[in-house]
Amino acid sequence: MELTDKRALVTGATSGIGSATARSLAARGASVVLTGRDRPLGEQLVAEIQRSGGDARFVAADLAQLQDVTRLADDAGVVDVLVNCAGFYAVAPTSEIDSATFDRHFAINVKAPFFLVGALAPRMAARGGCVIINVSTMVASFGQPGMSAYGASRAAVELLTKAWAAEYGPTGVRVNAVAPGPTHTPAMEPMMAMADELIKAIPLGRVAETHEVSDVITFLATPAAGYINGATLHVDGGRTAV
Ligand SMILES: NC(=O)c1ccc[n+]([C@@H]2O[C@H](COP(=O)([O-])OP(=O)(O)OC[C@H]3O[C@@H](n4cnc5c(N)ncnc54)[C@H](OP(=O)(O)O)[C@@H]3O)[C@@H](O)[C@H]2O)c1
Repeated sequence: MELTDKRALVTGATSGIGSATARSLAARGASVVLTGRDRPLGEQLVAEIQRSGGDARFVAADLAQLQDVTRLADDAGVVDVLVNCAGFYAVAPTSEIDSATFDRHFAINVKAPFFLVGALAPRMAARGGCVIINVSTMVASFGQPGMSAYGASRAAVELLTKAWAAEYGPTGVRVNAVAPGPTHTPAMEPMMAMADELIKAIPLGRVAETHEVSDVITFLATPAAGYINGATLHVDGGRTAV
């Protein structure tokens, strides 16, 4: 129970990697605030964690709305571990991404974590011993046709990870990112038609299971990762190594 007495906030906790992360943090003793827009799914996961003896509650927020981001930072209370996992992507050629879709990528994937960290990190710095983990993607590291806006938004998050590691590291707040490859989650379903093509380029030759990403996020939250700061850990079966 490496995270006993730690309080965690997980965005994107109603589905996929975020929900697996919330379960995993709670199983290690953290009190977890889950957030997303889907209250029934959020409450369902809260009940599941509580049935397993964990501590969780749900706060609904639409991270495309800055006022919800600010309210979430207040409602979450004390946060020792922040996992920025919520994400949005649209697969389309650059010429077909309209202004609203472009803005949505940057609102949910960049602006929301930026202002959440802006609100929470000073409080984390005052306490020390806190951790921020940002979820990125392998396509922030190479050009993937159809994912230009998404990849660019996550590349921004990887730079923010370094900026925040430099800014808050001296106060005892570690900031890292995890960059997954294709992972079995609801978000991945529409992409499964492309799975064979994606898998061909992955040295391990398969898609990740959700726990293989959430386990790495959880590791980064624990004292075992106490000297890792400003890193992006690639959890992509070796895709960005080749
Ligand atoms: N799965 C993959 O292959 C893969 C690969 C690389 C990176 N990633 C990244 O990993 C993260 C999790 O992906 P996933 O596959 O687990 O996705 P998922 O199953 O679709 O879950 C996405 C989560 O983001 C939340 N979210 C989306 N828009 C939101 C909004 N406007 N306000 C608040 N929450 C919002 C959703 O919650 P609500 O619907 O309740 O709002 C949901 O909990 C994402 O950032 C994704 O980009 C995924």
